[in-house]
Amino acid sequence: EMEGAILDLDGVITDTAEFHFLSWKRMAEEEGIEFEREDNEKLRGLSRRHSLELILGERIDEFSEDEMERLMSKKNSYYQERIAEMDEDDMLPGARELMEECRERGMQLAIASASKNARIVLENLGITSEFEAISDGYSVKNPKPAPDLFLHTADKLGLSAEKCLVVEDAESGIDGALKAGMMAVGVGPEDRLDHAHIRFDSVEDVDLDEIIERDENL
Ligand code: BG6
Ligand code: MG
Repeated sequence: EMEGAILDLDGVITDTAEFHFLSWKRMAEEEGIEFEREDNEKLRGLSRRHSLELILGERIDEFSEDEMERLMSKKNSYYQERIAEMDEDDMLPGARELMEECRERGMQLAIASASKNARIVLENLGITSEFEAISDGYSVKNPKPAPDLFLHTADKLGLSAEKCLVVEDAESGIDGALKAGMMAVGVGPEDRLDHAHIRFDSVEDVDLDEIIERDENL
């Protein structure tokens, strides 16, 4: 029996990937760092620091800790300019319905996001009060793909791992959910999420009956 739905924010509830990309790109251009759209896909779900490390690549040794902090805070200020414009209309299609369906089945709802901006985004979408628990980029030390954020969230809900499903759009998120011992539901393409317990092309396609049936047969 599923009693908790732990949802990722960026890429599941709302599509902020483009904002993250444009903000990294703007910073990178100003700093003379190469960063192309093709490289953006692999940043999905990763923490701010891990993203910067991937963007810098082999050039990482040229940057001191203070320099890296400066680049991250610059990127974040550009990102915050973008999310300040968000409102209720920026929910991904199907996200609100998914939350309602989970509710109708008596499940608790939670957010487990790698982002330190998660609370701002939830506020702007007007859905903060819909969740019993909100975990974000401040909640645990080890980011996804570690299971820590998911375990921390289940703990806040007062649920054991096997009573929770996780909805994730990122490879690293599915990794974390599997390691946490939870039902891992992927939304997105097969090549990214073939390790999920069950996968749908988009949030709109997520079928709770199918998830519960699959879970009973695991
Ligand atoms: C994740 C996003 O949710 O949060 C990543 O998918 C992002 O792209 C990460 O890097 C950290 O976000 P923030 O807001 O703390 O920089
Ligand atoms: Mg995500």
